Amino acid sequence: MNTAYHIPVLLKPSVDALVTNPNGVYVDVTFGGGGHSREILSRLGPQGKLYSFDKDQHAVQNATAINDDRFTLINHNFRYIKSFISQLEPEGVDGVLGDLGISSFQIDHNDRGFAHRADGPLDMRMDQQSGKTAAEILKKYSEKELLHVFNNYGEIKNAYKLVKTIKAYNGPLNTVDEFKQCIDICIPKGEPAKYLSQVFQALRIEVNQEMKDLQTLLLDSEHLIKAEGKLVLISYHSLEDRLVKNYLNSGNLDGKKQTDMYGWSSQPFDCKPSKAITPNDEELQLNKRSRSAKMRIGVRKS
Ligand SMILES: C[S@@+](CC[C@H](N)C(=O)[O-])C[C@H]1O[C@@H](n2cnc3c(N)ncnc32)[C@H](O)[C@@H]1O
Repeated sequence: MNTAYHIPVLLKPSVDALVTNPNGVYVDVTFGGGGHSREILSRLGPQGKLYSFDKDQHAVQNATAINDDRFTLINHNFRYIKSFISQLEPEGVDGVLGDLGISSFQIDHNDRGFAHRADGPLDMRMDQQSGKTAAEILKKYSEKELLHVFNNYGEIKNAYKLVKTIKAYNGPLNTVDEFKQCIDICIPKGEPAKYLSQVFQALRIEVNQEMKDLQTLLLDSEHLIKAEGKLVLISYHSLEDRLVKNYLNSGNLDGKKQTDMYGWSSQPFDCKPSKAITPNDEELQLNKRSRSAKMRIGVRKS
């Protein structure tokens, strides 16, 4: 396993929940270093199959070491899961796993611009071949658009001051350090790291359209997963977890349960267990980055 790239989080509990049929078909929508994918393959028999997505060209290089006929790597955004998987597996799949967010490799490589602690280009794209970089967003977005990003994705208390400061700035905004210099007067004295983490998280979510991709994944999974199949999602911040929880508990992204004229619920999944699963003390000791992880499991209704 390539733990230098990324240490997989909740590895055993997630794959235990996911793989119930050794000859089934599974999808890992976030391949990364391939930790979860390798574990899934180790549980599959000769007829089993695994499709793994990742939109990062570096992550995809990890797949070259997996020499296994049962495995297919799809170098695309998981937003397109329905068009790929409905073609490849028209009968549906037995389970879908998503370990959301970014990998340790992405955070630790300063040339990707994800971390506020080290200088580098203000990029933040997981797929470096498409989309706007964080620097382009700061330049091109209106005050109103930036306010939406920082309010909604970072829950930043002084978002208005932050946006006004960015828009009034005349200096260059192409690197992490230039951005930090620009917003220095907005950073609260007591908790600068916490504030910067929230600002960088908000930008990263917008750059990668993370909430939109997750919404699409949730809504499309119900059409791909067979009865009794599993949707297993590991999230790392409250916005993602709230969305997953709302959807699994109601069948709607806003969490409002709907029933038809006979009182039947249209909810496609049962959320089992009802509470999120988190890493145990042993895992927290071994891997500090697992501390914010929350896993939820949906079982597709018949
Ligand atoms: C937390 S890492 C997954 C780590 C992996 N489970 C492992 O054990 O190594 C998330 C990965 O998902 C990828 N990713 C995130 N959002 C994606 C999307 N919408 N489409 C495809 N890949 C995505 C990222 O590029 C990253 O490599």
